Amino acid sequence: MRHQSSASLRSPEPLLDVAALRADTPGCESVIHFNNAGCGLLATPVLRAMVEHLELEASIGGYEASALRAEAVEDFYSALAELINCAPRNIAFAGSATHAYSRALSAIPFQPDDVILTTRNDFISNQIAFLALRKRFGVRVVHAPDLPDGSGVDVDAMAALMRRLRPKLVAATHVPTNSGLVQPVAEIGRHCRELGLLYLVDACQSVGQFEIDVEEIGCDLLTSTCRKFLRGPRGSGFLYVSDRVLSEGYEPLFIDMYGARWASPEEYRPVDTAARFEEWEFPYSTVLGCAAAARYALQVGLGAISRRTPGLAARLRAGLAEMPGVRLLDGGARPAALVTFEIKGWQAKPFKKALDARGINSALSFREFAQFDFADKDVEWALRLSPHYYNTEEEVDAVAAAVAELQRMA
Ligand SMILES: Cc1ncc(COP(=O)(O)O)c(C=O)c1O
Repeated sequence: MRHQSSASLRSPEPLLDVAALRADTPGCESVIHFNNAGCGLLATPVLRAMVEHLELEASIGGYEASALRAEAVEDFYSALAELINCAPRNIAFAGSATHAYSRALSAIPFQPDDVILTTRNDFISNQIAFLALRKRFGVRVVHAPDLPDGSGVDVDAMAALMRRLRPKLVAATHVPTNSGLVQPVAEIGRHCRELGLLYLVDACQSVGQFEIDVEEIGCDLLTSTCRKFLRGPRGSGFLYVSDRVLSEGYEPLFIDMYGARWASPEEYRPVDTAARFEEWEFPYSTVLGCAAAARYALQVGLGAISRRTPGLAARLRAGLAEMPGVRLLDGGARPAALVTFEIKGWQAKPFKKALDARGINSALSFREFAQFDFADKDVEWALRLSPHYYNTEEEVDAVAAAVAELQRMA
């Protein structure tokens, strides 16, 4: 069920006014930004929200400024809640997606031999966190197999593992960092709900790119940054905590005076909301920037964004597919806007540098980022190009032409 919100009352979205959206995005004037999977370009209202708050802090004092803007700060929770279909009480601010993820993991009372069931395409830092839990608590980390066609995790095999191993935690990354693969997180969630298993989703690359509905996904916990496809500032992220998890009393290890009340010298009580996963100190200008970014995305429309953004990536893939020496690496029928490929005759850093020199922002992924996926694909590194809705078809074609030129030089 969708929570009552203005989003649910909106009429079907019109086509995007790309020229207006670009006019709102100062970075469009200086670069072809195809690194939105790294960090999206800030829109003017986001920049303004942050700068205005810093100016207010400078003129009246930091505590006084946050008190004055309390209502706007509250809107961070309302806007994010609207974006992923939950209530504001289910949202906690975090300094990064990884911060949100480790706070969530820290709330699970792992015992030796508990199983964490995950996929072969979960994010590098999540995989390292699971191994750290294995080292400290003796948990077992089990990776569900992939389908043979490279289209992601085999959900039936994963469900069979759920039934057999009764994992303490099921963890899935919606879109990994190292390819455009979209994992079937809602299908996985249906099995978790049926079996009553705790389910954590990393939606870092999908928030701001797709319509995310935590009810439909069926997750207990979900993490994301705000800086990528949501176009918020760096140093920000959030954690969704379901009412189920809150009412069952999960709390992070090292809860602080904001997340809990010190009820008596010997006792503390976690607060009722996801704020129990937050800490007392906040970067308020960043929080306000995130609220503005979420409002901006809602105003642009996630339906329209989720059609245009992967559509631009598909156009780019079509251009690259024709080039000799280029191998596209994104699996699945409808990949996200992370276009990854290897190119013969180039080393990673000089190739990226050559694109930098042409005013094209991109990113590199290395074997270390994706031990399973890159081993399966037999690649050491890949270039990642990640357009967003404010990029143009002309930019897509210019990027494809630049890759073709470099490929000829190889
Ligand atoms: C899928 C995925 N999860 C998590 C993260 C980590 O995000 P952060 O750098 O905000 O901790 C990233 C960053 O690239 C990512 O791509």
